[in-house]
Amino acid sequence: MKDKIEKIKKAALAEISAVESDEGLEEVRVKYLGRKSELTEVLKGLRDMSVEEKKEIGQISNLVKNEIESAIIRKETEMKEKEFAELDAKEKIDVTYPGEKVPVGHLHPLTKTRYEVEDIFRSMGFLIADGREVEDEFHNFDALNIPQNHPARDMWDTFWLKDGNLLRTHTSPMQVRFMEENKPPFRIIVPGRTFRFENSDATHESNFHQVEGLMVDESGKLTVANFKSVMAEFMKGLFGKELEIRLRPSYFPFVEPGFEIDVACPYCAGKGCRICKMTGWIEILGAGMVNQKVFTSVGLEEGKYEGFAFGVGLERIAMIKTGVNDLRLFYGNDMRFLEQF
Ligand code: PHE
Repeated sequence: MKDKIEKIKKAALAEISAVESDEGLEEVRVKYLGRKSELTEVLKGLRDMSVEEKKEIGQISNLVKNEIESAIIRKETEMKEKEFAELDAKEKIDVTYPGEKVPVGHLHPLTKTRYEVEDIFRSMGFLIADGREVEDEFHNFDALNIPQNHPARDMWDTFWLKDGNLLRTHTSPMQVRFMEENKPPFRIIVPGRTFRFENSDATHESNFHQVEGLMVDESGKLTVANFKSVMAEFMKGLFGKELEIRLRPSYFPFVEPGFEIDVACPYCAGKGCRICKMTGWIEILGAGMVNQKVFTSVGLEEGKYEGFAFGVGLERIAMIKTGVNDLRLFYGNDMRFLEQF
C-alpha cells in the first residue's frame, strides 16, 4: 500500500509540474485530491487492516495529501507570477516617460491687445462697458452732432441695413447710450467691433475694432491737462516706458476742441524709422473735449458737465506693438502668422 501511495505521489507531482493552465491544474487537483481520487480509492483498503497499519498508512497518506496540496499551491503561485511578469512586460507604463505635447492654443493678438488696453484703463479706475454692433442712426450720428445731410457724415462710410439701422461705424454711439443711463461723474472705456464700407488694404478693413473712452465730471473739474495725463499713462502702459505725447488740432463733430494724438515712436526714440515712416511720431488716436451738444442730446443741461472722449483702433495699436504692417494678416487665420504671438 505504501508503494501505491508513493507512486500516486510521484505521478501527481509530475503531472502538477507539467501542467500549463489553470484548468489543467484544477483537473489534477480533482484527480488526486477529489472525493473519487486514486488516493481515496487506495485508502478504502484500510478497512481490512490492523489498527497499527491504519495509523501508519493514515499518517503517510495525510503527508502525501499535504505535499500534493502545497505542490498545487506552489504551481498556482508560479503560474500567477509568470502571468503578471508577462503582463508587466507587455503593458508596463513608464510614468517618468515624457508625455506627448498636446497643442494648446493662445489668445489672438487682437484679443491680447484688447486685454492689455482694458487692464491699463481698469488700473486708472475706468469701467469697461459693452455696446451693440447694430446701431440706429440717432446714436451713431445725430446724437453725436452729425445730422443728416451734414458733410461730416462722409467721414464714416456706412453699411446700412434694410430696416434703417446700420452697423456702427465707431464705438462713439456708446457715449450717448451710456449717458442716457448714467449721470456723470464716470469714466468708461468701450471696446468693440466696428464696421465701415471700405475696400480692404494694408491699413483698412470693413471690419475692425475700436476702444472708446469717455470721462465726464462737473464743469471745471476735467481739463485737457487731465486728458493728456491719462493718455501719457495709457502710452506708458502700452509701450512700457514714458513717451512724449503731442496734440494736434483735428475735427470730429462730437468734440470741441478735437485732437489727433501722436506719440513719440517707441522704436526709434524720435529719430525716424520704418514704423513711424521716418517722422519720429506715430498717430495713435482721435480725441477731444466732449461737445456740449452731445450732453444736451441725452438731456443733460448745457454747460453743467465737461469731459473728454477718445477713440482708438485696436488693430492700429496691435500693428504698432508687433511691427506687423498689413492689417489683413490679423484676419487671415493663417496659423503660421498667429503662432508667432
Ligand atoms: N469715433 C471717432 C472715429 O471713429 C474717434 C473719436 C472718438 C474721436 C472719440 C474723438 C472722440 O474716428
